[in-house]
Amino acid sequence: MNMLKSLVGGLLLVAVGCAAPEASHSKKSQLVADMKRATDHHSFSKPDEAVTTHLKWDARVDFDQRQITATATYQIQTAKDAERLLLDCRDLTIHSVTVDGQEAPFELAPVRPFLGQPLSIPVTGSTQEVSVAYTTSPDAAAFLWVEGASPFLFTQSQAILARTWVPCQDSPGVRFTYEAHVEVPTELMALMSAVNPTEKSADGHYDFVMEQPIPSYLLALAVGNVEFRSVGAHTGVYATSDLIDAAEYEFAEMEDMLVAAEGLYGKYAWERYDLLVLPAAFPFGGMENPRLTFATPTIIAGDRSLVSLVAHELAHSWSGNLVTNATWDDFWLNEGFTVYFEQRIMEAVYGRDISEMLSTLSYQGLVDEVDAIMDVNPNDTHLRLHLKDRDPDDGMTAIAYDKGYFFLRLLEETVGRRTFDSFLKTYFTSHAFQVMDTDTFLDYLNDNLLNTEELRSAVNVPAWVDGQGLPGNCPEVKSARIERVDATLNAWTLGNIASDALPWSDWLYQERYRFLSNLPDNTDAARLAELDAAWDINSTGNNEVLFAWLEQAVRSQHTKAYDRLRTFLVGVGRRKFLTPIYKAMVETGQTELARDIYKEARPNYHSVATGTMDELLGFVE
Ligand code: BES
Ligand code: ZN
Repeated sequence: MNMLKSLVGGLLLVAVGCAAPEASHSKKSQLVADMKRATDHHSFSKPDEAVTTHLKWDARVDFDQRQITATATYQIQTAKDAERLLLDCRDLTIHSVTVDGQEAPFELAPVRPFLGQPLSIPVTGSTQEVSVAYTTSPDAAAFLWVEGASPFLFTQSQAILARTWVPCQDSPGVRFTYEAHVEVPTELMALMSAVNPTEKSADGHYDFVMEQPIPSYLLALAVGNVEFRSVGAHTGVYATSDLIDAAEYEFAEMEDMLVAAEGLYGKYAWERYDLLVLPAAFPFGGMENPRLTFATPTIIAGDRSLVSLVAHELAHSWSGNLVTNATWDDFWLNEGFTVYFEQRIMEAVYGRDISEMLSTLSYQGLVDEVDAIMDVNPNDTHLRLHLKDRDPDDGMTAIAYDKGYFFLRLLEETVGRRTFDSFLKTYFTSHAFQVMDTDTFLDYLNDNLLNTEELRSAVNVPAWVDGQGLPGNCPEVKSARIERVDATLNAWTLGNIASDALPWSDWLYQERYRFLSNLPDNTDAARLAELDAAWDINSTGNNEVLFAWLEQAVRSQHTKAYDRLRTFLVGVGRRKFLTPIYKAMVETGQTELARDIYKEARPNYHSVATGTMDELLGFVE
């Protein structure tokens, strides 16, 4: 325990750039006060006054009540004149609070939409420890509880849902180390974004340690009947027994990706990289929880064709987890860098043909999304967002991801790959365990990369960061394979090539996806029936292809695919698939069908997905 404490202290001091581990208390307070932090509109906390540095979480998971009862004990650092510690809470029942071991009063301010409420705890300039005993709500937005033969609980904390299961300073600008003791039903294994077990304990008790300081959005817990398989020296997979063989095969190249990533931008900071296959209700493709990526089972295609998602989550181990966006307005610093890094890992492991096909697809997705956003809220096409008074979830569009990617690609093409790689490597190394906001990054960029007028005007940073749409100097991507698909599609549309003569079986998933997602909206249902007869698309194991197919089936009212449509929508909770399909139903006058399927599917979805779908389908509980 003592060793842990001093290690934690050491890391923390490194993280905030102080040299002396034996710093006196007043020096420490100074340090807290001096630390530059951007204002985060999505947290009530005031870390400049009192900041949490280490969490000890003691919790019991109750599947029957769908609740966690826990105590969160924080080590804190306070400014000399500190009067209170503010923690973000949402839907938590607070039982009691102690300050340095003494029972203390506490206040909960009124609840605000999606932000929850601040919990205010009285402290002084010499307070060291604060403890909160509480219970979560059965409707806690971070959780998804799966019942049945294989019960499962997982959390999704990003962006501001950690506060629904742990009272915390829920701002990416606050980092803390943690340890946890978690009790779960005996037949289940508990896993966190921390050092994890590889076997079930006999009594359902598990201990966790996370020695590197992380922001709250990377707090994660999963509880399920899973097993572990090693796939490399530092990598492995967790999945339920029905999926573990498939997962072991699908993700066998994780160690190669890790080696490639380290070769590009420096040493991996988190020791192990494991992946947990979640139930299909997981609302995202992947979530970069440190040491343990959470992933949707829909990337298990049987042929390793969808592993770019693993490259993406792995890349976050640098962009995001090591150098963290200061606020959700700076989200592109997490995701844009990660998509760029993902592409580089894919290129290193699978070759440029593959990575260029992926870039071509993301370019198309970006152009479509820019068009769509320009109609609604043009300023949301800026890389730098303005999410004050809005749900940070609104910022989760292709802009941060793919406009961010193309901006970095433009930098690479402007200065050359060698120069850009050494810039990025130094950027990650010199800002490790720190936050980054857009202005600080732009200063760093000007000083270290775009250091001539010529370079600056070639890139035109303001047009990308604070300008609308896609600037005229956006790099072009070309993929010969994708161009051939486009020509084939054109010929098929004109009737110059028969459905059963398409080179479908020679096509990789990216090519099949391109073909299906670019079918004209008004394609006749009879022609889709032809495609299905020739290629049996309803039974593909590739969920990206299936998704593109089902969306088109909806648009063409190819009703023969509607049984598959229903099982897909009821069985899969990944929002990226759900939104376009339900939207297509609404846009084509099939809202009644959409509502009917949604009624059946909704109990299976996570709050992140129901939040979007309720609005889309006008659903009121
Ligand atoms: N960190 C994100 C997921 C996220 C972002 C959750 C914002 C909540 C708020 C994750 O790394 C991600 O980007 N996932 C993508 C996959 C990726 C390959 C683009 C997803 O889930 O679709
Ligand atoms: Zn991401």
